[in-house]
Amino acid sequence: MALILGIESSCDETAAALVTSDRAVLAHRLAGQESAHRPFGGVVPEIAARAHVEALEPLIAAALAEAGVELGDVDAIAATAGPGLIGGVMVGLVTAKALALAADKPLIAVNHLEGHALSPRLADPGLEFPYLLLLVSGGHCQLLFVEGVGRYQRLATTIDDAAGEAFDKTAKLLGLGFPGGPEVERAAAKGDPRAVPLPRPLLGSAEPHFSFAGLKSAVLRARDADMYSAEDIAASFQQAVVDCLIDRTRRAIDRAPGATALVVAGGVAANAAIRAALEGLAAERALPFVAPPLWLCTDNAAMIGWAGAERFALGLTDQLDVAARPRWPLDPEAEKVRGAG
Ligand code: KG4
Ligand code: ZN
Repeated sequence: MALILGIESSCDETAAALVTSDRAVLAHRLAGQESAHRPFGGVVPEIAARAHVEALEPLIAAALAEAGVELGDVDAIAATAGPGLIGGVMVGLVTAKALALAADKPLIAVNHLEGHALSPRLADPGLEFPYLLLLVSGGHCQLLFVEGVGRYQRLATTIDDAAGEAFDKTAKLLGLGFPGGPEVERAAAKGDPRAVPLPRPLLGSAEPHFSFAGLKSAVLRARDADMYSAEDIAASFQQAVVDCLIDRTRRAIDRAPGATALVVAGGVAANAAIRAALEGLAAERALPFVAPPLWLCTDNAAMIGWAGAERFALGLTDQLDVAARPRWPLDPEAEKVRGAG
């Protein structure tokens, strides 16, 4: 059994966790920065990096104390090395390097996306490779065929905005506050998903790619039409996202023969309507459906510790000069598509 210290600092959550290779989360601590970024309606990189510097050390100390272990007891130190806001990533990675050097422990540089991608295996011991993963977060919207640790085939990505980005922008347009996803979900619960006609970009197209930019513009037009309540727009927007995600994922299932399960991960996977619709799709295709608990969907350090444990078991450790990476695709072979993704 290996004990891993996980560190996460790639966006606006500072987090530290202690996770074992037999799936025990001994401690997981998180310091959000919502109030620091709220006045700006989005994450400000420089504010985030400074907040990570202040929060990280006490957070690691608190996690070690909660788990009842000392740094000398851990087998390896795993930290997010990208992709993400580079200032924040560097804070976590440099801290991990210093701890690894001081305590003479191996360092594991974790791809944040791999943290999300493997998190369902922390939650569900029965989940075996390969599986089809819908990875939906603030920066990414991808369908991945997960063949093993470090082995990802990207079947689809977004040609413009990520799903979480669409939720965040919609929240901003509707004056619902920050962070947007949970606010839109709350407002949507009080609205009618059929009230506002909104587009379903790329619905039915042969490639399983995603697009959300047109949806965001349609939300803006609906708001300015002064005909609909914010709740009805939020509900209709959420339904359009659900319809797109389901159509695209259904298409990808056809391209992923041999997948043992349909799996969802990333912050947007915390959305109940999206989870329910994916569960229905999995049932339709007679696939098991796996979604991590909500706390494990949004950014956290337990998923980084777990990805570290998976890599450690395979002997995949890193040198102390490993670089922080603002961009770091899981599947470097994937064809380039227009826009981000
Ligand atoms: O994975 P995550 O915590 O951070 C990134 O790596 O991006 O994902 C954050 C994203 C944000 O865009 C946030 O608005 C969205 O996940 N999100 C949600 C919900 N909770 C978080 N989107 C829809 N419904 C939610 N309940
Ligand atoms: Zn994330």
